[in-house]
Amino acid sequence: MRPRRTLVVAAALALATAGAVATLTTPSHAASAGCAVTYTVTNQWPGGFGANVAVTNLGDPLATWRLEFDFPVAGQTVTQLWNGVATQAGRHVTVTNAGWNGPLGTNATVTPGFNGAWTTTNPAPTAFSLNGVPCDGGTPTPGPSPSTSPTATPTVSPTASPSPGPTTGPAPGHVDNAFAGATGYVNPDWRAKALAEPGGDRIANTSTGIWLDRIAAIAGTPSAMGLRAHLEAALTQDAANGTAPLTIEFVIYNLPNRDCSALASNGELLIGQDGLRRYQTEYIDPIAAIMAEPRYRNLRIVTVVEIDSLPNLITNTNVPACAEAQSTGAYVQGVRYALNKLHAISNVYTYVDAAHHGWLGWDSNFGPAANLFASTVAGTTAGFASVDGFITNTANYSALTEPHFSITTTVNGTSVRQSHWVDWNYYVDEGTYATAFRAKLVSLGFAPTLGMLIDTSRNGWGGAARPTGPSTSTVVDTFVNDSRVDRRIHAGNWCNQSGAGLGERPRANPAPGVDAYVWIKPPGESDGSSTAIPNDEGKGFDRMCDPTYTGNERNGHSMSGALPNSPLAGAWFSAQFQQLMANAYPALP
Ligand code: BGC
Repeated sequence: MRPRRTLVVAAALALATAGAVATLTTPSHAASAGCAVTYTVTNQWPGGFGANVAVTNLGDPLATWRLEFDFPVAGQTVTQLWNGVATQAGRHVTVTNAGWNGPLGTNATVTPGFNGAWTTTNPAPTAFSLNGVPCDGGTPTPGPSPSTSPTATPTVSPTASPSPGPTTGPAPGHVDNAFAGATGYVNPDWRAKALAEPGGDRIANTSTGIWLDRIAAIAGTPSAMGLRAHLEAALTQDAANGTAPLTIEFVIYNLPNRDCSALASNGELLIGQDGLRRYQTEYIDPIAAIMAEPRYRNLRIVTVVEIDSLPNLITNTNVPACAEAQSTGAYVQGVRYALNKLHAISNVYTYVDAAHHGWLGWDSNFGPAANLFASTVAGTTAGFASVDGFITNTANYSALTEPHFSITTTVNGTSVRQSHWVDWNYYVDEGTYATAFRAKLVSLGFAPTLGMLIDTSRNGWGGAARPTGPSTSTVVDTFVNDSRVDRRIHAGNWCNQSGAGLGERPRANPAPGVDAYVWIKPPGESDGSSTAIPNDEGKGFDRMCDPTYTGNERNGHSMSGALPNSPLAGAWFSAQFQQLMANAYPALP
């Protein structure tokens, strides 16, 4: 994974889930018509709330749809709705399809979500209809049902108890933040490698991401456990951790033309060789089928979806493999396909990659990227509801926080934005970038419960080279270079960075709007080889991993800053592991 940016472009809420759920049971009236509705309050605060209304069509396919319900109490209103168009008259709410999600096939689900307001109390609506037919949650009725009771009372559970999804059977429900209150799965493969390193026992029990980086990774290889083996091990760990739920993190990383602007992690599939179809049928489908098995339904399965894919469509379409990914729609379609399959499983959580500040932090990249993320996700079956959040800094090295200056700092009247290091970016670190990106996405229609993840596995920048205070220089370049904790030669450098350390340990709710700090890139696994190494994993040789390389336009023609003698991307790199521990920030015991 090789975040980078293109040419310089210079010139809620970490909330406890309210989880109120109403599941409807009213008989259907018409032949070949029927529906099931699950109304979920995802979050509630004084005067406001967020809710999702999952509507499943149990009857004949519909060309357009219209959902209607009444709020029980005066003062309850819909203020902003996505995945549909809402009108309200008194307590009566009508939601019609958006332009892009009119057709609703048999057993298809659409999930309008909204922000609402309330004054006295905020009870869930008790009856819903789809195209005029009351929703009963049952199968289509072939003939008239004479003895229907359109106002039958639904089951309303005001607490965060498990809610049966309309199409997935009993499930533990989908909480706002999968990481809150949960224990993180420890990958036995990674743990064994960490334990084999002197001092590695200090971090060996840390949860790290599992990269499903090729079709063969699903079944597993002689040296790496497969998906099912991990989920089975997760069940064991979950059984041993008391009442806490367990999160387990998988990286979905196998799009055709993968890593299109670099070489170290090119994948096995090509768009020109039926790669999108193979991605869907040989990669996503089997992954989703295993994750959906009922025995895993109490696990909180977190998926990180396709690192570097959509961002490459923003900045790197001058590279032919990226241009092809864009012109064919393969990245957008692949991401949508993955989200549709994964989101349909109620205990699976989806986080889409949002690169890092040193890639998308310029306005000319930031806005277009946010628009692309929004249009991509809006085009999924469940619309904006199909993502739980976004992740930044995956496998990258950008500092979480620059403690000694901010984007508004000036030096002798000159903004730090004018320094060579900041290079007119609008962010100096991942914390400010992730927060701003989240706000931008919510403004485009994503739910206010959207949560960010930040990969902090290797962005610690501790050790002796870490500045302990701001520089006293009055020259902006000197000031920034002497003050910054990110010690890279250039913020576009991404491969096995010399001087990096372990960052913040994984934890939930570290900052407003941030669901968790996570270690998605497992420390000690290489970003790419420093010389060409033949292999059958689709891994190329990217000179950004060669310490003698003098760079390209994506890193300002700087030295690569890579450690020497590195193995293939994903292979164990002991020297890097030792450096990361030595330069950990916060320091290791
Ligand atoms: C590699 C993957 C590897 C992952 C985690 C990526 O750069 O391409 O093969 O699993 O890093 O180390």
